[in-house]
Amino acid sequence: MSSTLILKKDHFGSQKDIGNAMSEEDAYVLLEEWVTNDKLIFHMKQVGHLMKVYAAKKGLSDYEQHIWYLAGLLHDADWDQWPDQHCRKIIEELEGRNQDPRIIKAIASHGPRHFGVEPDSEMDKMLYAFDELSGLIHAYSLMRPNGYEGMEVKGVKKRLKDKSFAAQVSREDITDASERAGIAIDELIRFITEHQLRT
Ligand SMILES: [Fe+2]
Ligand SMILES: [Fe+2]
Repeated sequence: MSSTLILKKDHFGSQKDIGNAMSEEDAYVLLEEWVTNDKLIFHMKQVGHLMKVYAAKKGLSDYEQHIWYLAGLLHDADWDQWPDQHCRKIIEELEGRNQDPRIIKAIASHGPRHFGVEPDSEMDKMLYAFDELSGLIHAYSLMRPNGYEGMEVKGVKKRLKDKSFAAQVSREDITDASERAGIAIDELIRFITEHQLRT
């Protein structure tokens, strides 16, 4: 989800907090407090899951996998109650809790055209790449009789081309994110359809 709020900020969190990340339980407490929209919670769980699987496949440590996960799980946490403050509110919250600056930076750069912060690290780029595309793929699964079962890349691409389908999903962001990540759209689609959390 992205409204436009240019953050005018280029430092996120503090280097001294590298290595400090909340537990999954604490992240859920925050989500319960902040988010009442179940669809939004599920979207964040899906993106968190993709981030974790991707980090695991790269052979990153358990801690690194966890921070990739948290970035996905919390990236839209402020969207439900404070859409016009998205994503400043969650950034401030995580800074106040001395969270690993890499989590905060990834969240700050999940919509460069909207927040004015460039995705630099691979973690930043993959959050940006999974966000909108996983949303479109999920919307597609909901209109298919068998959900994710048998979903093909070409079916997803057809929906991507049809601008009236899941019209709120930014095609421009999807293309831009895939280019920045250096991963072809087809490959991203394949990864998401294979690993997306289904329920
Ligand atoms: Fe967002
Ligand atoms: Fe999102």
